[in-house]
Amino acid sequence: MAPFVILIMCFISLAFVSYVHYASRQRRRGGHEKAAKLPPGSMGWPYIGETLQLYSQNPNVFFASRQKRYGEIFKTRLLGCPCVMLASPEAARFVLVTQSHLFKPTYPRSKERMIGPWALFFHQGDYHLRLRRLVQGPLGPYALRALVPDVEAAARSTLADWDGNVASTFHAMKRLSFDVGVATIFGGQLDERRKAELRQNYSVVEKGYNSFPNSFPGTLYYKAIQARRRLHGVLSEIMRERRARGELGSDLLGCLMQSRAPAGDGGAGALLTDEQVADNVIGVLFAAQDTTASALTWIVKYLHDNPKLLEAVGAEQAAIHHANHGGARPLTWAQTRSMALTHRVILESLRMASIISFTFREAVADVEYKGTRTHARTHTRYTRT
Ligand code: HEM
Ligand SMILES: *[C@@H]1O[C@H](CO)[C@@H](O)[C@H](O)[C@H]1NC(C)=O
Repeated sequence: MAPFVILIMCFISLAFVSYVHYASRQRRRGGHEKAAKLPPGSMGWPYIGETLQLYSQNPNVFFASRQKRYGEIFKTRLLGCPCVMLASPEAARFVLVTQSHLFKPTYPRSKERMIGPWALFFHQGDYHLRLRRLVQGPLGPYALRALVPDVEAAARSTLADWDGNVASTFHAMKRLSFDVGVATIFGGQLDERRKAELRQNYSVVEKGYNSFPNSFPGTLYYKAIQARRRLHGVLSEIMRERRARGELGSDLLGCLMQSRAPAGDGGAGALLTDEQVADNVIGVLFAAQDTTASALTWIVKYLHDNPKLLEAVGAEQAAIHHANHGGARPLTWAQTRSMALTHRVILESLRMASIISFTFREAVADVEYKGTRTHARTHTRYTRT
């Protein structure tokens, strides 16, 4: 079992304090008023708060030092937003599962615009549920079976370029996970020209993702928005071609294009618009690429640091390679399921490395948690390590 540490950070905005749904319900039940306090912690300087402290060191150190001092819940102010940080699996369950109706996913507007406002992780309720179900199919084990040859080809091509040529492992892994992402979304039938167009334009989007959102021509942000538009153009073209052929396909793109809204989602039976499909294609690429690339990079690093383990994993892989006549026969799904040691190395690496530092939620009502109070408009962040 991989235990994971979860840090949850909630931004509190006093400007949007709304009716204290949760806390007041609790009070009514308790029969007496007991005002909850704000959690401990320092709000730092006016407006900028503790932003500089966060960005001048490893974010995990910033969070860990405050967690040590104040415990699993503390307040701070980052990027102009008063926040509450929650740091325990129990708190994560509170925000993400048991009281999830009190929170909504919120990203800075500039980032939403970059990925696409219709991408599932900016939504809640029926639309989110529908998209969540839709993407789960083509990303599930049954669909992945058919992709083993494409994944093997992508891994081979990464290794062929590797010998002596790789300046950055992370960069090589990003390329690999992009190729696997593209195979998943387009069912391994996208031509090389299109793939290159998507790759180049997507990398411009990525460079602008964490830049200052200044739409002045020439800035990274401006270039990213332009590239985002071109990505949309390429995707629309692919969708038009599929419709003209009358074959939408059973890959992720095909599933998104065919989905009809269930009753209750406003306009039952309606298809997703091309805009909605494109935003979700880019959204899945975004969710998949950096996370997978960083996990793979950590695995390479941990194996490098443990020569004995590296040798044992190498032996496990070599035996399969040998059984496939030196790669003359394709890797099978059953073989991917029989890499016991390799699989354990992957799980242990995911446990040790902190792939996503935190994520956030915004409270839609005032919330009381363990006797402390969080005002409405709360953004939540959590980390797995
Ligand atoms: C080691 C690799 C990965 C890690 C650590 C990771 C982590 C996460 C986390 C923490 C979230 C939740 C974010 C939030 O709710 O605020 C998330 C959401 C998501 N991830 Fe991943 N992820 C990984 C790989 C992938 C891959 C490979 C895909 C797709 C092929 C993917 C697709 C998604 C999607 C679609 C969501 C949104 C789910 C929703 O809103 O319901 N992720 N991921
Ligand atoms: C982006 O996509 C367009 C097609 O819309 C293509 O002509 C261009 O070469 C791609 N790459 C870059 C870096 O813009």
